[in-house]
Amino acid sequence: MDRYRAWLPITDATPSISLGEGATPLVHLQRLGAAIGLPNLHAKVEGMNPTGSFKDRGMVLAVAKALEGGARSIICASTGNTSASAAAYGSAAGIEVVVVLPKGAIAAGKLLQALVAGARVVAVDGNFDAALAVVRALAARDDHPLTLVNSVNPHRLAGQKTAAFEICDDLGRAPDALAIPVGNAGNISAYWAGFTDYAMAGIVERRPRMLGFQAAGAAPIVEDRVIEHPETIATAIRIGNPASWRLATAARDESDGRIEAVTDDEILSAYRDLARLEGIFCEPSSAASVAGVTKLARVGGIDRDALVVAVLTGNGLKDPDTAHRLAGGGIIEAGASVDAVRGALGWR
Ligand code: F0G
Repeated sequence: MDRYRAWLPITDATPSISLGEGATPLVHLQRLGAAIGLPNLHAKVEGMNPTGSFKDRGMVLAVAKALEGGARSIICASTGNTSASAAAYGSAAGIEVVVVLPKGAIAAGKLLQALVAGARVVAVDGNFDAALAVVRALAARDDHPLTLVNSVNPHRLAGQKTAAFEICDDLGRAPDALAIPVGNAGNISAYWAGFTDYAMAGIVERRPRMLGFQAAGAAPIVEDRVIEHPETIATAIRIGNPASWRLATAARDESDGRIEAVTDDEILSAYRDLARLEGIFCEPSSAASVAGVTKLARVGGIDRDALVVAVLTGNGLKDPDTAHRLAGGGIIEAGASVDAVRGALGWR
């Protein structure tokens, strides 16, 4: 918020409640890029934010503006990361936090973040789209004043633009393409707005092609219809009716970009490759960006020389169950002796 203050709706009356969000690493994916034929592939590692996802960039501003307006309570629906972030910033601000979640569909780490921070957690019998409809209706009532901090709150998207600014500042230019997972479609819209701000100000010459990726079982924008029962292992983007649908398709069309689907297998394969080739542990939904780039590169949909940035939206530690299902069988048991460990490793 401080570094990009001039670009944000911050006034002297806006409280500073930073937890150190932003300034995340831009990592050159040398081994993975070489493997898929994109030597200029980079990752913006958003899992390095205070609560482990990009949501903090927008949440810090949304909560600060809520405080500035005298709010006592905030509310959101979430697939997990927004609620973890709302819980953290709301707690730090000393206000009530209510999060409404799809029951049984939240990665363990995210749920625990909200609970430990003391948020009031309501699990509803329905998916994210149903939970969002409920919190929008609750925030519209005046019997219990609540500030809605989902990405339909414009301060969320304003704050999230800072990631696009950082990428341009780090590279000294805009990338040729930006690859990003799409769920409720706020983040792709925020990045596009950020690149547009920089281009209008003459800080960068051109804006990137926006390449958005949805999970195949939850791809409403790709299929151009609401998905009633979205399904994917990438629970963060298990969304059938994105709130920022139109902003996302505008970003796609204005940038000559694409929004496409990737299967759960493709997502998990990129998730594993990021960890094994690059040492980056992201959550499955985040790997949709790299899965998509991999797929497009294979069919010649991206120039070999293109400077591509894939956004890795959240930290892998948030979803231990998926990690365990994928790699938990890798443990080799042995007695506590040199010979036993050598034997177990096959070093005879
Ligand atoms: N990646 C992660 C890790 C997310 O948590 C989300 C969204 C996205 C990508 C997609 O971003 O919604 O702006 O298109 N998570 C929201 C939540 C929905 O409730 O935490 P989007």
